[in-house]
Amino acid sequence: MKRNLEEYINLKRSPLQNHLKTDLAKAEELNLSENNALRKLNNYFSLGIVSGIKHYIVNRIGRKHKFLNYDTADDNGIYQISNDLNLISLVSDWASDTPESDKIGELIKSHNPDFTIHLGDTYYVGTKEEISNNFFENSSWHRGKKGSFALNGNHEMYASGISYFRDLLPTLGMYDETQKKYLGQKASYFCLQNDFWRIIALDTGYNSLWLPLLEIKYPGKCKLEPELINWLEKTLDLKNDNRGIIFLSHHQNFSAFEEDIPKPGEQLKKILGDREVLWFWGHEHRMSIYDKNCLKNNLNVYGRCIGNGGMPVELVSGVSKYHDKVIAYDNRSRFKLKNSDLGYNGFANIELKGNELKIKYYDIRNELLMEEYWISDIENSKINLKDLKLVNDELNH
Ligand SMILES: [Fe+2]
Ligand SMILES: [Fe+2]
Repeated sequence: MKRNLEEYINLKRSPLQNHLKTDLAKAEELNLSENNALRKLNNYFSLGIVSGIKHYIVNRIGRKHKFLNYDTADDNGIYQISNDLNLISLVSDWASDTPESDKIGELIKSHNPDFTIHLGDTYYVGTKEEISNNFFENSSWHRGKKGSFALNGNHEMYASGISYFRDLLPTLGMYDETQKKYLGQKASYFCLQNDFWRIIALDTGYNSLWLPLLEIKYPGKCKLEPELINWLEKTLDLKNDNRGIIFLSHHQNFSAFEEDIPKPGEQLKKILGDREVLWFWGHEHRMSIYDKNCLKNNLNVYGRCIGNGGMPVELVSGVSKYHDKVIAYDNRSRFKLKNSDLGYNGFANIELKGNELKIKYYDIRNELLMEEYWISDIENSKINLKDLKLVNDELNH
């Protein structure tokens, strides 16, 4: 049963609430074909509330899925792409299985991308069923011609990351023309690179939860796992590589609207020093574009939040911090639902061609909102912003 955007309004980052929502949705679906009022009530309590609480306890006390790494010689998570034009569609917080996420999925497909990447959050908790409804047959997840990948978010980890690692990742990865299949994404991190740019996906979701019951007040710090740091240092040899860097992660490094999550940036600073990087993230359900920012002991980051993929974009009254860093954010009102003013869903397309990078941001009506143009200077290990154009000036800050 397709979900409605309405169900997601005011959804909290509470694993308990999200487990209840998942199981209540299942009970509701069952009740559609049930006429007996008593059995309906029983389904609601036993398959909805009791089961939701049980799943919450099992997942928050039980062990999370093992963190997967690249341990075979034939796949180290680095995928070379040509210097010809490659189109990479990025979308985050998309997997809500709503008419809106379907529309975004169709739009991405209409651009015919080489690669598609989901930046995490499968709602409510990334169960096998939810992963299947969003990403498998008859879903609107479009797999790029050359490959398709998914990052780990906090919502996948609400169900211990089990279905994300076990069920979703094997269906993704690079596309093999001879075998006519996707070869599987072996870990929750990877790198796509040409001779001038590296797109490096990180897993900030794995350690995004901390104390059971107190998790809203005390979330995890999203620390990058030691094996991932080791891969960045040894396999990618990040310190000695001079290509332009584009990080992808689920969680934000900083935000003008919500809390900063500095830990991963602090870990990366130890490897990269003062290098400037582009960094795409989601988690916040909005689109916002920042000028260069640097937290204490952190990376020099050009942040791009694209968490407006499929969840309700709940509008804000304004910027609460980093006023001078916000270049643009999409706070346009699209319609009202349940007394909430909602904005526009959307996605971003990256066009890589040699040392050139174009980024185009689209909304759910396929309207181009903003584009930017970067050049990677490998002689000096620098990325240079050559042009940034707000096509829709309502996004102007
Ligand atoms: Fe989200
Ligand atoms: Fe999230």
